[in-house]
Amino acid sequence: MAVYTDASLFVIILLSPILFVANLVLRKARETGTKPWHPADKVVLITGASSGIGESLAYTFSRAGSSVILAARRKDELDRVAQKCTALGAKDVLVVPTDVASEADAKNLIKKTGERYGKLDCLILNAGVSMGETFDTLKNLDIIKKLIDVNYMGCVNVTFHALPLLKRSPKSRIVVNSSLAGIAGVPYRTGYSASKFAVRGFFEALRADLWDKDIHITMIYPGVVVSSINKTRLGDQPFDLNMKGAMTSEECARIMFEATCNGTKEVVFTAKGKLVRLLEASFPELTFFLINRMARKMLKT
Ligand SMILES: NC(=O)c1ccc[n+]([C@@H]2O[C@H](COP(=O)([O-])OP(=O)(O)OC[C@H]3O[C@@H](n4cnc5c(N)ncnc54)[C@H](OP(=O)(O)O)[C@@H]3O)[C@@H](O)[C@H]2O)c1
Repeated sequence: MAVYTDASLFVIILLSPILFVANLVLRKARETGTKPWHPADKVVLITGASSGIGESLAYTFSRAGSSVILAARRKDELDRVAQKCTALGAKDVLVVPTDVASEADAKNLIKKTGERYGKLDCLILNAGVSMGETFDTLKNLDIIKKLIDVNYMGCVNVTFHALPLLKRSPKSRIVVNSSLAGIAGVPYRTGYSASKFAVRGFFEALRADLWDKDIHITMIYPGVVVSSINKTRLGDQPFDLNMKGAMTSEECARIMFEATCNGTKEVVFTAKGKLVRLLEASFPELTFFLINRMARKMLKT
């Protein structure tokens, strides 16, 4: 393994106390600009609300008294979630069957939202699929294209049509469910990692575009979460992730809910994830070695 000799690293280490304080001050100033924001009486749109993390988010916001718009492809599952949202205290519930990969569907979703509420306070981009096959065994590129269409273009489609409504609400939010695979490449998930890296690049740039608008972007990078994601993994014989010790969807939704209310810039899950985020830029060889080893151990054989 090559020894890292870039002198800039040592300068950064020397300056780190000053950089740390500057970062804290900027963070405080930014977060203050996102508040107050109380979920009761807010209109919250959740994509991928028919199962897993999205379903748990729907219940969490319903308990807090929000109006929730539930979007995904399976209407029967959305209706089931909607019933429970009403029982839990949602102010109102709107179900809009949507394939986020379709721009026409995304446009219709926002049109229905506007017609019902005339505004949108919070857009949660959560719909997604994963994969479970190495790139060199793929028979064609269909899977890669699908992952980009759903995970990346799905976010872009909905955001594009939602921006005019988001601009009508003070301190509105866009919350994006990426993945630790959107920070570091992991085996068996080339297309998935690529789509989540793309999402990160897009929303980091959008945050810069919107810096003088009152729309705040929160990036979420979860680790392994118990959900239906193993059932829908793309591939010929996709592997399953070992869910032993994984976070529950409810816990993931709780963390996302708090980050949404607090206007947090990003949340990286788990101590290992935070370490990867910290080390990635300075120690790329070491980080790749550790991630690859760790991720392979998590494959169910
Ligand atoms: N579980 C994890 O370990 C984990 C870790 C990091 C990040 N994430 C991310 O978390 C998000 C939610 O996943 P999950 O773990 O909760 O999995 P999940 O239980 O399989 O939920 C995925 C949701 O996305 C929806 N969806 C899929 N394709 C869609 C499309 N084309 N249009 C609209 N909705 C679509 C599904 O609904 P329909 O099938 O009804 O359309 C479902 O509601 C994903 O973005 C995933 O990448 C998950």
